Amino acid sequence: MPWHPVADTADFAQRPVIGRDCAGRKLALYRLADRYYATANTCTHANALLSEGEVVEGYIECPAHYGLFEIATGKAQGAPVCVDLATYPVRVTGTRVEVEIPD
Ligand code: FES
Repeated sequence: MPWHPVADTADFAQRPVIGRDCAGRKLALYRLADRYYATANTCTHANALLSEGEVVEGYIECPAHYGLFEIATGKAQGAPVCVDLATYPVRVTGTRVEVEIPD
């Protein structure tokens, strides 16, 4: 499974979550403290972009109906969201943030 460069660490200066399209997928990338995470960017409830939501203590809050997902695991936290998000491995090489996406 190839690693794809998707962002620079400086891209998180303004917000802890950013959206990127890569390898045909919409990704939400997160920086929490000094760790990086990636999930699908499309909310499993009604397709809002999670990268436009707010990060709250390790969770992403959907901007449309305020569903919560745990960023590290993608786990939906209850109504209105009940389907988990896909998650992807992330590594940082220098300042380059890379995500491993299945072929
Ligand atoms: Fe995300 Fe409804 S679209 S909670």
